[in-house]
Amino acid sequence: MAGTAGTNDPVCWGILSTANIGVKLVIPAIQTSQNGRVAAIASRDLAAAERLVAAQAPGARAYGSYEELLADPDIEAVYIPLPNALHAEWTIRAARAGKHVLCEKPLGATPEESIAMRDACRDAGVLLLEAFMYRFHPQIRWALEQAASGAIGRVRIVRSAFAFDLSDRGENIRLSASLAGGSLMDVGCYPLNFCRAVFGGAPQVVAARVDVPAESEVERTMAAVLDFGEGRFGVIDSSFALAWHQFAEIVGDEGRILLPRPFTPGTNETVVRLERDNESIERRFAEANHYRLEVEHFAECVRSGAPLAIAPEDAIEQAQVIEAIYAAAGYQRPW
Ligand SMILES: NC(=O)c1ccc[n+]([C@@H]2O[C@H](COP(=O)([O-])OP(=O)(O)OC[C@H]3O[C@@H](n4cnc5c(N)ncnc54)[C@H](OP(=O)(O)O)[C@@H]3O)[C@@H](O)[C@H]2O)c1
Repeated sequence: MAGTAGTNDPVCWGILSTANIGVKLVIPAIQTSQNGRVAAIASRDLAAAERLVAAQAPGARAYGSYEELLADPDIEAVYIPLPNALHAEWTIRAARAGKHVLCEKPLGATPEESIAMRDACRDAGVLLLEAFMYRFHPQIRWALEQAASGAIGRVRIVRSAFAFDLSDRGENIRLSASLAGGSLMDVGCYPLNFCRAVFGGAPQVVAARVDVPAESEVERTMAAVLDFGEGRFGVIDSSFALAWHQFAEIVGDEGRILLPRPFTPGTNETVVRLERDNESIERRFAEANHYRLEVEHFAECVRSGAPLAIAPEDAIEQAQVIEAIYAAAGYQRPW
């Protein structure tokens, strides 16, 4: 297995693909992290990997296939930002090659895939984390702590949404049936994940609808009510056909917590509002890079052998609820 617990050397990361999210946010986060560095980048196109290495990771190795990177004994952990339908295959291959895996959300394209990924990583003795970076932002940790501590009384409703307009962006992995696209898979998974984090488990029952425009391979809008039992509900929606917006709101019988930018707050200051007893408290969070916090936590666990803050079982439960939402909407996922 890769990763020698106890050494202080930075963890050597390999990046599978030249995906946008890696180029824009995760490779810079690893390069500025305290305990990791990008040691190799692989692409289906060697020249693209070489260009990215030259631009963002000088001295790293460039590979023209993902297999070659996985065969590199110096790589300890891989970051997988491939299209959703390829997460399972490459996570399992990476685990069998002895690499720890940070895989983009959603972990598997189905619950069965997520279970197979968890099993492969467990059997190989490597770590596996679904890359919900927003969970590492101090604003989310604080909001979850406040809700759990009773600061707004008994929590009964969580409302959250995440949407943007994909209509004029041409070809995109998010609109592909064979690559496991769809608004719930891409952005709706965040509001769902947030509801599960607040209530600490899966909903018992789900009601949902999706919109699949005639020309579309995948659903482009989703709305769902999640029943967590004992009068506790999550109300979530997502879309590729609306103006960009996101929010999350936790409502208790004594107050509420409002997060205007829960999922991609950027690196500037963020504000969370807690309202209670006719009083409104603004809690300000200094700039934080949740991608860097995520990769630093991951590398710390690689080195220390400590368990990750979020176990793969959380990602399996997440995939099961995605499946339940699609089933409740009468949507036959096209992959
Ligand atoms: N956590 C976040 O903030 C966040 C944000 C955006 C996206 N994501 C997730 O990250 C993943 C990638 O999203 P993205 O928008 O960055 O993707 P993207 O820019 O479209 O890149 C996907 C990459 O996958 C590789 N690839 C391999 N087989 C492919 C195929 N059949 N079709 C298309 N690409 C293929 C390509 O790299 P090569 O040609 O170099 O091999 C491509 O550049 C998704 O799972 C998405 O949900 C997460």
